[in-house]
Amino acid sequence: MFLGPPGAGKGTQAKILEDRFGYRQISTGDMLRRHRSEKTALGLEAQGYMDAGKLVPDDLVIRMVEAELANVENVIVDGFPRTLPQAEAFEALLASKRLKSVAVIFDVDNSVLIERITGRWSNPRTGRVYHEKFNPPKVAGIDDEDGGPLVQRPDDAADVVAKRLAEYDEKTTPLIAYFEKSGAFVHVNALGAIADVTRAIIAKLPDVDSGSAA
Ligand code: AP5
Repeated sequence: MFLGPPGAGKGTQAKILEDRFGYRQISTGDMLRRHRSEKTALGLEAQGYMDAGKLVPDDLVIRMVEAELANVENVIVDGFPRTLPQAEAFEALLASKRLKSVAVIFDVDNSVLIERITGRWSNPRTGRVYHEKFNPPKVAGIDDEDGGPLVQRPDDAADVVAKRLAEYDEKTTPLIAYFEKSGAFVHVNALGAIADVTRAIIAKLPDVDSGSAA
């Protein structure tokens, strides 16, 4: 489980570990954005919350993740759980499948988040993210991998980001103490360059390259 505020680098690191070690990234943000673009009932229900920088109700997100996890193991869950009810539902699901998990907590200073978020460009089809300064694509606006167009997310506007950060502080920060008390966890310094953060995660999770850490 990758846990950290908006812009901490969860999606970036999940994609790197997916490419390198074969984990499957499950990003609830990407899943919700796909539902929105396909105009499913779930997407239509979620969009008002997302545009306002608020969390989507737990029951919708939990059902979506349960369906996605039905037949997979060795996943990086990126952006989930984000509330106590989500954490409890996820633990029950893992227990029913006899799977283990570890919470990777991205420690980062709020001062770097705005610059990371406002410079982000992403591929809406695959969720792969770039940054115009810290991780630029070879050709501006085009994904290196599949040649698809890169876009900026509407919820990355400054006023919505402020609401997302407040929502994180109120509803997700308490999960850090929850995992420190009741589960397996590691803290990772997410302030450094992208490659340094990857090295820090791998160093903290010795089993990561055998695909058995999550
Ligand atoms: P979601 O898509 O999950 O957004 P988020 O958690 O706010 O996280 P971000 O995607 O903004 O950041 P990230 O940590 O992945 O950073 P990234 O790697 O892109 O959620 C969106 C919305 O969906 C929510 O607001 C909510 O409404 C809803 N939602 C989603 N999950 C939910 C849930 N479980 N429950 C309820 N609602 C839910 O990096 C950011 C930028 O920085 C990139 O440009 C990247 O290139 C760059 N970068 C990354 N690492 C570094 C580094 N080390 N140095 C310099 N630049 C870096």
